Amino acid sequence: MSETILKAHNIFKSFDSPNGKIEVLKGVFLELKKGEKIIIQGPSGSGKTTLLMILSLLDKPDKGKIFYKEIEVFWAENKFVSKLRNEKFGFIFQFYNLINELNALENVMVPLLIKGMNFKDARKKAEEYLELVGLYSRRFSFPTQLSGGEEQRVAIARALVNEPEIIFADEPTGNLDEKNAMKIMNLLFELVDKNGVSLIMVSHNPYWLKYFNKGFYLANGKLNEIEV
Ligand SMILES: Nc1ncnc2c1ncn2[C@@H]1O[C@H](COP(=O)(O)OP(=O)(O)OP(=O)(O)O)[C@@H](O)[C@H]1O
Ligand SMILES: [Mg+2]
Repeated sequence: MSETILKAHNIFKSFDSPNGKIEVLKGVFLELKKGEKIIIQGPSGSGKTTLLMILSLLDKPDKGKIFYKEIEVFWAENKFVSKLRNEKFGFIFQFYNLINELNALENVMVPLLIKGMNFKDARKKAEEYLELVGLYSRRFSFPTQLSGGEEQRVAIARALVNEPEIIFADEPTGNLDEKNAMKIMNLLFELVDKNGVSLIMVSHNPYWLKYFNKGFYLANGKLNEIEV
């Protein structure tokens, strides 16, 4: 049995809106093992992105606990949390979140430079990952000069360049054509199978279900396991 790498215990999250408080997550439990692939589906607005943000420690739950390898995460421990996020987690955002002032290459270099890698090595590694997503020749383009799908692929290169232990992917193929979607998913699966990386992915596309170890449907603030 492989080790549990991430665990969410009874997570609650609500937001204030002009129409009152919205309770998005109402008791979510989830366990992710090393090398495991989990897919999460659910209607728009059901809280999939909110859940990924909490699991990846980018947002704080109102209630509930997150454990990384049995260590409870305390958000007040800023250093520990940001080190985990930068060195162990890779996040592919639904809306890319690239830095517009930086070109594709520089965007992919950011996590490496934060980690303290020297500029030359960071550049070489970032170029390798841009090559993997088929964008080496566009490395000097800025996000505004790229198509949605190209931006998405830069974001994927950025998420993978640090060789994370866990990849959080929010509709990573949402803006890609079939060929590029297949290429990106193969890249993600290869990392999982070869390097023992764990993957939590949100996708509306039922086609991917069969490639995952476990599937969940998020509705009414809770996860229900579905057949994959
Ligand atoms: N920062 C925020 N402030 C207020 N409300 C928010 C915030 N973030 C999310 N919400 C609300 O929480 C609910 C869940 O949003 P979330 O983005 O997690 O849904 P989702 O399942 O990812 O949807 P989609 O499939 O459309 O991406 C929505 O009703 C949304 O309006
Ligand atoms: Mg979303």
